[in-house]
Formats: sequence, C-alpha cells, structure tokens
Amino acid sequence: MVRRATERAAAAGVSERVRFELGDSQKLAFADATFDVVVNECAVGIPDDSEAVVREMARVVRPGGRVVIHESTWRRPVSAEEKNDLAERYGTTPLERDEWTGMLRSAGLEEVADEGEPWSRPEVFWNVRKDRKVCCPLMILTPGERLRTLGRLLPRHGVKGAVKVLQNENAFFSAVKAEKIGYGLYWGRRPEAAGTRRAAR
Ligand SMILES: C[S@@+](CC[C@H](N)C(=O)[O-])C[C@H]1O[C@@H](n2cnc3c(N)ncnc32)[C@H](O)[C@@H]1O
Repeated sequence: MVRRATERAAAAGVSERVRFELGDSQKLAFADATFDVVVNECAVGIPDDSEAVVREMARVVRPGGRVVIHESTWRRPVSAEEKNDLAERYGTTPLERDEWTGMLRSAGLEEVADEGEPWSRPEVFWNVRKDRKVCCPLMILTPGERLRTLGRLLPRHGVKGAVKVLQNENAFFSAVKAEKIGYGLYWGRRPEAAGTRRAAR
C-alpha cells in the first residue's frame, strides 16, 4: 500500500509534499507538536484503544493546531445488543456523536465542534465510485468485481465464510438505509502553550 501510494504521488507530481509511512495510530512514531493538522479518516474506531488514537493525534499536533476525525456515528437510538452486533459485522465501533466529541475533549482539545450532514446521508456509504454514480449498495461492485471478490473469499474462507460476508454486508447496509449508522466530522484545537496566545497579539 505504501509503495503504491508513493508511486501514485510521484505520478501526480506531489512527491515533494507527501510521505507515506506504516505505523500504529495508538502509538505514533512522531515527536510531540510535529504537525499543523492531524486527520484520521475512519480509522479511530478500528483499533482496540480509540481513546489512545485521539490522544496521540492531540500529542503530535502543534499547540494551536487542529485535530480532525471522520467517523461512523449512531444516528438514532439503537440497543446495546444491536450496536455490538453491527459493530462486529462492520469491523469498527461506531459511537454516539457526544461520545466522539467527549473523546476529543478528554484528549485536551478545545473549541470542539462537529458536523453530521452531509456526511451522515445513507448515499455517502455507497456513492464511493469515481468512475460512475451508484444508486444503491448492490451497485457498488460491478458483477465482474463481485465475482472476483467471491473468488478470493472462497479459497480462504470457504462457502460458510463467503455467506457470512454477504450476510454482514446485508445487515450493515440495512442499518445504513434505516439511518441507524452514519458518519460525523469532528474536530478540535490543541490549546496554545501557556502565554503564547497573549504574546502573539
Ligand atoms: C475504514 S479504513 C480507512 C480508510 C482510509 N481512510 C482510506 O481512505 O483508505 C481503516 C483503516 O485503518 C487501518 N488501521 C486499523 N488499525 C490501525 C492501527 N492501529 N493503526 C493504523 N491504522 C490502522 C486499517 O488497516 C484500514 O486501512
């Protein structure tokens, strides 16, 4: 993935401006206050310790810099049992809007804010193709792509595994269509170091 991304950056003529590295977001290999902005796109809810991910983002952003996350969010009341079941099928842990903003505040960020629309609209989940418009989850993959996907799943996971994948996909998209799961964009600012803000004025 790193190699392909590096090649694509070169092809796009932006090699001077970007670098790709592999790492664990729960323990970033960067010094404190390294970046102006730190963004995590839908990879806070996957690691075991989402709070550590956000704490690390707040650590490596400079004082006054922004931390931004885009994450799956419950859009309407869902029982704890259904939340667990859907999170298991989805492979990530959606949280309530207030839980995400609370996590940013607990990491020491201020001016915490969020936006639920248009990120939460069901079509955001399936309208993911650059090459064409997608009107429903079934249309995300072409028939050829679906066959190739099944061809990769079957040898590794057998018929039972492939059926499970299709069931998970179906349960997940049913929840999206029922507007139980959406996305949210959340951000906050790392406080300026004591005295810096006044000195800057
Ligand atoms: C839903 S995808 C996000 C996709 C990404 N925004 C993109 O556009 O490709 C979640 C990603 O998080 C990565 N991931 C899971 N655990 C991680 C961890 N502890 N540290 C860093 N990345 C992790 C997965 O490998 C996966 O690529």
